Amino acid sequence: MERELALEIVRVTELAALAAASWMGRGNKYEADGAATTAMRAMFDSVAIRGTVVIGEGEMDEAPMLYIGEAVGNGQGPEVDVAVDPLEGTELVAKGLNNALAVIAIAGKGQLLHAPDMYMEKLAVGPALTGKLQLDDPLEITLQKAADALGKPLSNLTVMILDRERHQKQIATLREVGVRIKLLSDGDVAGAIAPALSESGIDLYVGSGGAPEGVLAAAALRCLGGELIGRLLPGNEEEIERCKQMGIEDPHRILSMDDMIGTGDVIFAATGITPGEFLSGVRYTSDHRADTHSIVMRAKTRTIRFIQSSHYLPNKQLLQEILSK
Ligand code: FBP
Repeated sequence: MERELALEIVRVTELAALAAASWMGRGNKYEADGAATTAMRAMFDSVAIRGTVVIGEGEMDEAPMLYIGEAVGNGQGPEVDVAVDPLEGTELVAKGLNNALAVIAIAGKGQLLHAPDMYMEKLAVGPALTGKLQLDDPLEITLQKAADALGKPLSNLTVMILDRERHQKQIATLREVGVRIKLLSDGDVAGAIAPALSESGIDLYVGSGGAPEGVLAAAALRCLGGELIGRLLPGNEEEIERCKQMGIEDPHRILSMDDMIGTGDVIFAATGITPGEFLSGVRYTSDHRADTHSIVMRAKTRTIRFIQSSHYLPNKQLLQEILSK
């Protein structure tokens, strides 16, 4: 993949974020998601790739665009797998809450796991803990191992987890052990990336969230030197069958970074829609502009770019067309 591709991809997440941000706090997550998806799909037309969506908005019969298997890009350039979440945190945007992102990961053809839309158990860490923890250990052991490896007491460890009923047991363990806990209302792509960003103050991300989000976060973590270990959590026979159809023979096996994103180069880009752990949200200024804040990274070089852009809205014709529909 050419390095210029990284910058092209940011333009795509920027437009999706701008489209979604228009729906902030308006209580309609479907419209917000639809606007972000339309914007992302339209911008892909200008990107020089022969891409196939492997993680997207759903199956062909349930999603009008960015569905699994859809071809994206201008048909020139490298053949790549594309994972997208035009609006990661639909509820967050609908309620005007922090942490919503527009996200894309790109890797060589055949590299990204075709993660079915189900839960995935996740353990995500930054570079200091990469390769040091196991998903199968009891949580208290994992915490002790992490504290030992980081050379600090358990009381100085900060763990992030989605605030969900299904996590009651883990949250109780975290409290018993005495670590600091950051409960997340939504948006576990940002949550799982947080441990790899030293300024986040998060040491570990645990718990279950969407499997597609797990693959997206794994792509970011590869660029940051972190790690996500996962395991799909099919809830019934139908979901087990779905895993098999997507080429995952043993749906219960532990998934390494290589299983999820392959061993080659990966590009990850995200633009903040609402303010979050590491990106500002879309900010409207008095001179008909909107400012966006994005991150774009490449695994091969591990360069991290934060990009601040100021968009002059009257000139954003494509965006105006999408929002006026
Ligand atoms: P959406 O953008 O699809 O609403 O997902 C938000 C999210 O919080 C994800 O980040 C996370 O992986 C998933 O939902 C968790 O699912 P649930 O809300 O069912 O716990």
